[in-house]
Amino acid sequence: MTQPSGQSHGVAFTGSGSATLTVALSNDQLSGVVDTSDEWIATRTGIRQRHVATAADSIRSIGGEAARRAIAQANLTPTDIDLIILATSTPDDLFGSACQIQAEIGATRAVAFDITAACSGFVFALVTAAQFIRAGAYQNVVVIGADILSRLTDWGDRTTCVLFGDGAGAIVMQRCEGGKGGDRLLSFDMHSDGSVNDCLNATYAHQSVPLTDNITVQTGQFNPITMNGREVYRFAVNRVPEVLEKALFYADLSTDDIDWLILHQANQRILDAAAKRLGIPAEKVVSNMAQHGNTDAASIPIALDEWVQAGKIKSGDTLALSGFGAGLSWGAAILKWGLP
Ligand code: ACO
Repeated sequence: MTQPSGQSHGVAFTGSGSATLTVALSNDQLSGVVDTSDEWIATRTGIRQRHVATAADSIRSIGGEAARRAIAQANLTPTDIDLIILATSTPDDLFGSACQIQAEIGATRAVAFDITAACSGFVFALVTAAQFIRAGAYQNVVVIGADILSRLTDWGDRTTCVLFGDGAGAIVMQRCEGGKGGDRLLSFDMHSDGSVNDCLNATYAHQSVPLTDNITVQTGQFNPITMNGREVYRFAVNRVPEVLEKALFYADLSTDDIDWLILHQANQRILDAAAKRLGIPAEKVVSNMAQHGNTDAASIPIALDEWVQAGKIKSGDTLALSGFGAGLSWGAAILKWGLP
């Protein structure tokens, strides 16, 4: 279902929060690590610095901080929360970090689980949460995007290490009246194309361990991120406007109705190209890439929260979100911020 459900339950977006990571790594500092320069990185991507997690930071701690702030902004307490969905590709525990965040914030009533969809993860998690709310199963839901990509970065590879950063953001989604005028998730659209999976991945590297004469198992660890930057760039500038146009069509809206365009913060040139193709003026395009770089599933909720906290995004504003990246996967959601 891509449009307001027509069911008796709708979705409202009532709070946002993000975590602050204290260690910033500038382009100049990175140029002491690999053969690059502030000029190259800023011109090609718009990134000036990124934040990196210390040994004291974890998905549990930064995801928990973002969630706590979003819950407080929604005037709820952690025990009001029924469901926590964590979008991450870098959990503290491969069995999932959502339960750790549940414990961290004391959301004792909530069921919690992770989803993995890289840079599309936050949009996919938001849409997943909406289904539980519309179905009447849950009332108060926290959706978190949190990633510590510095864990998966090859710090000797200048073609990727300059792009990524660490961070976490979260929103609260609550049940409200359904149907047009009530449900504030106006539309969504999501896609995957696994045939081009090898454009961007962090694959499992295994070694054979013989157990018996005829049984050998494979154990190992994950490789760092590899990416065909040009292919991913081409994919993004084509698919992002397309998926947003489709979502706007489903919502019966035009680009003029969008107050804020919040794209996954991968590259300023991708944001500019998508906005130009859609005819959306630059002042409506949310960009915090210069400060954070590409924080994977965290990038959309961090940007959203910064614009909410700055008083730029107001209740009733129409937001167009689009995530895209590894999978390859891409998706969009059109929503109205705040309570009906
Ligand atoms: N510093 C200096 N030079 C560099 C660097 C660097 N950090 N990286 C690459 N170069 C060099 C290359 O070696 C190449 O040199 P050559 O011409 O002598 O061979 C030259 O710069 C140009 O390299 P390109 O790869 O063609 O640069 P491009 O303009 O394509 O920019 C970039 C690369 C920024 C990665 C771009 O392709 C891009 O943004 N792609 C999209 C990435 C993205 O959106 N990812 C999103 C998903 S992330 C996720 O899902 C986890």
